[in-house]
Amino acid sequence: MKTLTIIKPDDWHLHLREGQILEAVLPATVNSFRRAIVMPNLIPPVTDVEMAMSYRRDILNACPGDCDFEALMTLYLTDHTSPADVQAAAGNPYVHAFKLYPAGATTNSASGVTSLPDLMPTLEAMAEYQVPLLVHGEVTHADVDVFDREAVFIDHVLSPLLEALPGLKVVFEHLTSRQGVEFVLDAGDNVAATLTAHHLLLNRNAMFNKGIRPHHYCLPVLKRETHRQALVAAAISGNRKFFLGTDSAPHDRASKESGCGCAGMYSAPVALELYAQIFEDNDALDKLEAFASLNGPRFYGLKANSEQITLKKENWQVPSLIQAGTEEIVPLCAGEILHWRRA
Ligand code: NCD
Ligand code: ZN
Repeated sequence: MKTLTIIKPDDWHLHLREGQILEAVLPATVNSFRRAIVMPNLIPPVTDVEMAMSYRRDILNACPGDCDFEALMTLYLTDHTSPADVQAAAGNPYVHAFKLYPAGATTNSASGVTSLPDLMPTLEAMAEYQVPLLVHGEVTHADVDVFDREAVFIDHVLSPLLEALPGLKVVFEHLTSRQGVEFVLDAGDNVAATLTAHHLLLNRNAMFNKGIRPHHYCLPVLKRETHRQALVAAAISGNRKFFLGTDSAPHDRASKESGCGCAGMYSAPVALELYAQIFEDNDALDKLEAFASLNGPRFYGLKANSEQITLKKENWQVPSLIQAGTEEIVPLCAGEILHWRRA
């Protein structure tokens, strides 16, 4: 049997939600990942250190049994985030970044930023304290094609921002386009990116495969095959700027299978297994450890984990549904056979 042992990975972009969903989804993440950057897009959003500490306690309380999972907290950037908020975050050992959601860009982004230039003093403080800004890199104007929103964000928002603040640490979250890969490669070492398993695995055809597939809808939306190939090349390149971030984003089944289905794929139960498959398919299994376990902590100034995990080559069937209290969640690859699993 073929096995692969690597340093236990971290997930540098994760949605855990609250309440019964949090309790239902946390075990899958804890199983594969030692730490995770936890996204703050709750209702209401996690906007200050006190809220982050309260959310962190809820996560630790939901942790199964003898779990040594670490929740790396983030704060939601709003039009009202001040330089003092940045200073407070920089001084807190559990808060690791701010997340920029352009207002209206995605799930629970209504409190997001409406004008980045107006936040300059706050962003300057982030550069000064070296607190990373995690960006959802899409413009929101209705007149920009949904498949072009990442590329337009680079030209209209991110390039000018980094010209104004060349020392700002930025993680371009869930990169989806060739233009995004090129931008990150050309930028300084202060700019990195996360890559999801689903954007490495699927192109936009997956949303329209013999009918509309709401469980393949996420934001930024899946792109055409040439973009997927650029993402895979970046992931397997060994370049330190690229690291694992699942963007696992659980929603109850009814909200996905709806006349206006919401964005987000629940990938935590299959993500590490899919990354292994993608790296193997591209003859790059030897690069998986750097991508999954080394590049992220290096960017965030943290130590790599000391634990190891083993994956083995063995077929298993992904459950078609996960029960979350009174709700049901359909995971990515529901009912499909995967070829790697945790030993
Ligand atoms: C995320 C969610 O559901 O919170 N949805 C998604 O499609 N990725 C939000 C986000 O990361 O954009
Ligand atoms: Zn996300």
